[in-house]
Amino acid sequence: MGIGALIMNTTLSDSGEVISGSGTHGSAEPEGLSRRQFLNQGISVVGWGIVAISLGAGLFENLRFLYPKVVFHPPSKYTIGRVDDFMTDKKPDAFGVITVDTRFKKDHRFFVIREKERIFALYARCTHLGCTVNWFEDLTIFKCPCHGSEFHSNGKEFAGPAPRPLDRHHIALDSDDNIVVDTALVYNHTVFEEQKMYIKV
Ligand code: FES
Repeated sequence: MGIGALIMNTTLSDSGEVISGSGTHGSAEPEGLSRRQFLNQGISVVGWGIVAISLGAGLFENLRFLYPKVVFHPPSKYTIGRVDDFMTDKKPDAFGVITVDTRFKKDHRFFVIREKERIFALYARCTHLGCTVNWFEDLTIFKCPCHGSEFHSNGKEFAGPAPRPLDRHHIALDSDDNIVVDTALVYNHTVFEEQKMYIKV
């Protein structure tokens, strides 16, 4: 017997007992009782399931509203120490550079250059096609591994196809006198004399 037929042929007595069958009253069927209960319970489960899904969807939408989509970018500002950390007794080279600090090249792609009266951050990106340049302490020059451009210790180009000096990052002291380099800000040689390009020591 199908479920439809079961519904059509099944009624409840005043006491809640099931009276079923095809017109023959008084012959209760325990099997019909279990089917009816099973059907009722099934409908209840489906109904509550729909309610739960609706509530869940509404809650999800509310949470999405409370926590809007955010795109996280890697930080671009790096605290690299204090001015005292870059003090040295060395003499400047022919280009006025005392030290080339390579500690930040691997992770942040810049060098910290110490001149007699300035500290600045040199972007390690070749100005030809963008390869990362390397510092050769023994030769006191930067070299690009891609097409052979070479730069003096201050970043000035002197060999290869690079069209201009290495660029520099914004550098400044924060309120606690820590040196902060912002790698999101890149400037070419036309503004190297501006205050934002170096820290005076
Ligand atoms: S990318 Fe450096 S020389 Fe071409």
